[in-house]
Amino acid sequence: MKKSPRARSRQPNRTVSIIGTGSYVPERVLTNADIEKFVETSDEWITSRTGIKERRIAAEGEHTSHMAAKAAQRAMEQAGVTPGEIDVIILGTVTPDTFFPSTACHVQRILGAKNAACFDISAACSGFLFAVEIAQQFITNHTCNTVLVIGADKLSSIVNWEDRNTCVLFGDGAGAAVLRYRAGSHGVITTYMASDGNYGEILHMPGGGCALPITRDNVDQRLNTLHMNGRETFKQAIISMSAAATIALEQAGLTTDDLTCIIPHQANMRIIEALAERMKVPLGKFHVNLDRYGNTSAAAVAIALDEANRSGRFQLGDYVLLVVFGGGLTYASSVIQW
Ligand code: ACO
Repeated sequence: MKKSPRARSRQPNRTVSIIGTGSYVPERVLTNADIEKFVETSDEWITSRTGIKERRIAAEGEHTSHMAAKAAQRAMEQAGVTPGEIDVIILGTVTPDTFFPSTACHVQRILGAKNAACFDISAACSGFLFAVEIAQQFITNHTCNTVLVIGADKLSSIVNWEDRNTCVLFGDGAGAAVLRYRAGSHGVITTYMASDGNYGEILHMPGGGCALPITRDNVDQRLNTLHMNGRETFKQAIISMSAAATIALEQAGLTTDDLTCIIPHQANMRIIEALAERMKVPLGKFHVNLDRYGNTSAAAVAIALDEANRSGRFQLGDYVLLVVFGGGLTYASSVIQW
């Protein structure tokens, strides 16, 4: 067995920081006008109900791992980290390339990150923030130094393209971050995560697992596609995200006035507006890109974080709140001092 590169000496006052971000979306743009051609809908309906104008769709043969690796390369480049320095790859997805190997292992192969331990986590749209929390624990507990966290999904592969209730909402993409100890006061201050399995059926893919394996009958019934109770999801999204945001801020000893930027899950503009109202925060503080990408599941908050980071929406020392919800239900929030 090779010698573990993860066993490192203890370092005092470790602050786990995001030292680089990256993202990737496929080239192909699917506009609302394009969708009008194959289901009964309109740009007006989609825009007024969701705020989404267009989304990106992966090319033939472009899998979750390919998008994830591209986002990861950009994050590693910004962080100044080489593939050999990555100790762990944690990838949040509900659209893995294969059930096993994990998509994180596929990404390891593409990157040549030969020293990394790799695994996926399933927390739907909350996958990226759940992964940040796990990474923070690993680094704080001295298990390793450098963790590559990725949120990546190819929801176009599990959407029922004949169901107008869902097919207008989603897109494909990936976002990544490199986490590492950094001296000083900046870093991930607090992370909160929670789940409520009682609401599992409001947003789920019933088939494809051992409960309802892939059979001709199950595929004919579209059980291998995403099913959603839109109104209930909408309601739970607002309740869970505002609770997660409040708890994370309390844990951090901060108020919304201290925040420079809020990066929410990018599902629906009306959900973000309702969240802003509940939190009593001006909408302008929220970074929004769902008009261009739709809901990219685990990738959404990671792509938005990368965009906000690269466009200078916040500076070193500023407080940023990330808040998400997803199927499961799962929800999470992180307060970061950049
Ligand atoms: N175009 C036109 N009409 C549509 C469309 C469409 N694309 N989709 C649904 N409709 C129709 C329905 O058939 C229904 O018609 P009916 O009343 O004649 O039956 C009507 O519009 C639905 O109306 P509402 O339910 O009032 O629509 P609502 O305002 O709730 O908006 C929406 C629906 C956009 C789905 C909203 O409920 C929502 O955003 N929910 C949250 C969805 C979400 O965020 N999902 C992702 C979760 S994150 C994750 O983990 C993946």
